[in-house]
Amino acid sequence: MKPTAATTAHAPTAIRMEGLRKVYPHAQGGLVAVDGLDLTVHQGEFFGLLGTNGAGKSTTIGMLTTLVAPSAGKAWVAGYEVSAGPVGVKSRIGVVSQANTLDRALTVADNLAFRGRYFGMSAPAARRRALELLERFGLADKAGAKAHQLSGGQARRVMIGRALMHLPEVLFLDEPTAGVDPQARDDLWQIIASLHETGQTVVLTTHYLDEAEALCQRLAVIDHGHLLACNTPGAIKASRGAQTVITVHYDADATPATEALHSIPGGPHDVAVDGPTVRVSTTHPDGLLGHLLRAGSAAGLTVRDATTTPPACRPPSSP
Ligand SMILES: Nc1ncnc2c1ncn2[C@@H]1O[C@H](COP(=O)(O)OP(=O)(O)OP(=O)(O)O)[C@@H](O)[C@H]1O
Ligand SMILES: [Mg+2]
Repeated sequence: MKPTAATTAHAPTAIRMEGLRKVYPHAQGGLVAVDGLDLTVHQGEFFGLLGTNGAGKSTTIGMLTTLVAPSAGKAWVAGYEVSAGPVGVKSRIGVVSQANTLDRALTVADNLAFRGRYFGMSAPAARRRALELLERFGLADKAGAKAHQLSGGQARRVMIGRALMHLPEVLFLDEPTAGVDPQARDDLWQIIASLHETGQTVVLTTHYLDEAEALCQRLAVIDHGHLLACNTPGAIKASRGAQTVITVHYDADATPATEALHSIPGGPHDVAVDGPTVRVSTTHPDGLLGHLLRAGSAAGLTVRDATTTPPACRPPSSP
């Protein structure tokens, strides 16, 4: 199906979201997973969705890839308005989901070739492209293995290859390196970066800040479905002063420990004491939590709760 005038209003961009929202049914009323996202991804761009567990990343990907019906708002992907042209969207996107969705009973090559056949390729063409992709991703020797015999990192590479069989305009990668070892992660980073170099539009979700920084040209930082920031990784870090904030709640007023807290080594740190709550902004967070524990303990205080927020994950309005 070709895009029609009605569905190509935003064709120059790869993706556009307007007020995209998802509320899941929930025992205590609705659970707002995505709360009105307005974002644009340009053609050829490497765009990241960065957020902690439950931030709404997969739900957003689900709405862009026709798998999750939005509760409100609209999205356009590869020239199609998603709810009006789901078939068109599906024909122009590749999706690598968080879970391993390979057919375990099929060989690695057949997992790819069957996808090609589904999109109308002849059997020889599908086989040829499958083997090309496996070669490109360093998996030529696994072509005849069953999918269940692959390691986690190998399976991710095969899933990326399968998603590329029909030359999609936009590739969605949902946490592509979650749960793989550092070597496999490096391999995946190289593969993913090389795709971008060939002009592939990529949307990647991650909760790893270093991954987002290493791969993405722009990032949307989301938390509880809200957009906190959208910019280049460098600008997001710079705008937040590249500071990590550690917040500790003691079991009593921390004022008696103020002096000890201000002389924590490894600084300078910006320390704010507010009753039992102490907030430390720092560019050197390593070991700081232990020092806060000990400084409190010397003043007879016990830590009740502590949170660490890395630089790119704080709302622009927070101090
Ligand atoms: N099918 C569903 N039904 C009900 N609630 C859901 C469903 N899918 C997700 N949620 C909830 O929506 C919120 C966002 O979930 P989502 O999976 O989009 O987050 P995520 O950012 O991808 O998290 P993770 O990093 O753990 O993959 C969470 O609170 C989750 O429990
Ligand atoms: Mg997810």
